[in-house]
Amino acid sequence: MGRKLLLDKAHIEGIRYYDVYRKNGGYAAAEKALKSMSPDQVTEEVKKSGMRGRGGAGFPTGLKWSFLAKPEGVPRYLVCNADESEPGTFKDRYLMEFLPHLLIEGLLISSFALGANTTYIYIRGEYAWIPDILEEAIAEAHKNGWLGKNIQGSGFDLNIYVQRGAGAYICGEETALIESLEGKRGTPRIKPPFPAVKGLYQCPTVVNNVETLAAIVPIINIGGDEYAKIGIGKSAGTKLISACGNLNKPGVYEIEMNISVEEFIYSDEYCGGIPNGKRLKACIPGGSSVPIVPANLLLTTAKGEKRMMTYESLNDGGFATGTMMGSGGFIVLDEDQCVVRHTLSLARFYHHESCGQCSPCREGTGWMEKVLKNIEHGKGKMSDIDLLWDIQRKIEGNTICPLGDAAAWPVAAAIRHFRDEFEWHVLHPDEAQRRNFGLAHY
Ligand code: NAI
Ligand code: SF4
Repeated sequence: MGRKLLLDKAHIEGIRYYDVYRKNGGYAAAEKALKSMSPDQVTEEVKKSGMRGRGGAGFPTGLKWSFLAKPEGVPRYLVCNADESEPGTFKDRYLMEFLPHLLIEGLLISSFALGANTTYIYIRGEYAWIPDILEEAIAEAHKNGWLGKNIQGSGFDLNIYVQRGAGAYICGEETALIESLEGKRGTPRIKPPFPAVKGLYQCPTVVNNVETLAAIVPIINIGGDEYAKIGIGKSAGTKLISACGNLNKPGVYEIEMNISVEEFIYSDEYCGGIPNGKRLKACIPGGSSVPIVPANLLLTTAKGEKRMMTYESLNDGGFATGTMMGSGGFIVLDEDQCVVRHTLSLARFYHHESCGQCSPCREGTGWMEKVLKNIEHGKGKMSDIDLLWDIQRKIEGNTICPLGDAAAWPVAAAIRHFRDEFEWHVLHPDEAQRRNFGLAHY
């Protein structure tokens, strides 16, 4: 049984409420940090832990914190990115819904380390019921002296505010999120400057994902060195994976990053295999923005070793062979699923969510959707497959934010690994049309 650092108490009845959380060891890490550590010592522990950001990019958290500019007399902000919108990703929702005090404790320790007295949780609009849960927990934390002025006599002040998004995927991109938080339209800014230097209201800002901030609690509880021993190499600690698609037991799992992909999919401790004994066809292991990978490459590396659930192993060989850990949104496709249809559905999503600032993304995503729709509906030509390849190549690396790459990569990987399926649609137009009967909205 793998070690659990985040979800170890998730099963305790009433853990959502302050009294139960506190009785079960809650706020012990905050107490330790505020009473016996300096902000720099907290940052040092986070650096030692080797924990990488859990939102998708995997940037080392301690390093990001150390980039925060600290000009005299200028406020600093911590922003919790709870705009979890990546298709297939729902782990942060689980944390916020069932363990809101774990997040608040993590925010408190992190704000203390960064010297931020105002912290925002920016939550996606579709998580309509969760702000109430967070606000109730924030009120409880205030009442019990964990927020507000002079927290637990430490001299440190902190207020946390919850801000609801309005349903735009792009507002999960940190600079678009900041724009939205400032009351403007959520469009990404050009980086640099990074938020660590010029973020919210042009002040130094750290933007971290929900899971990243929650993981600060166990890091302080057990110490950075101990945390770093869990997992393999630069994939330190535990990671939440939201598993969905053709699985017997979809759900949110906390894994130590030392198990194989095969174990994660097939063992009863995790996903319990594919329903009805079907064959595994492909998987997107890190949310829709990372490349799809066929079963053979997913389970085994080029060297014939088992592929592991780590940042390095999943990314082995780049996206040509491996893929990425991303946000941990693990989407499984069995042998009955159509990769072309699946790719069309993603292309449609990215076209809809493009903010329209850069032409390769604005025009390219729509173009890819159109071409894919033709192929899927049996109206495509062989040359359309090359056209599709060409369009995605022209988007990748030519846009302001990663949404362009995220739209291009799934198309590239689908053609690279499943070109025969695209060709089948062109060669069997009647059958392709018949399969889509009644599904015209796609
Ligand atoms: P990124 O690699 O540009 O940045 C990572 C973080 O490090 C950012 O906070 C950035 O400000 C910071 N950083 C990097 N270099 C820095 C420097 N020199 N100085 C100061 N700070 C620096 O990636 P980004 O845009 O934050 O995330 C992209 C990923 O997000 C995608 O790969 C995807 O997996 C994931 N994603 C997750 C979603 C979700 O719902 N969880 C939704 C969409 C995408
Ligand atoms: Fe907007 Fe797309 Fe450009 Fe990102 S890549 S800034 S979403 S147009």
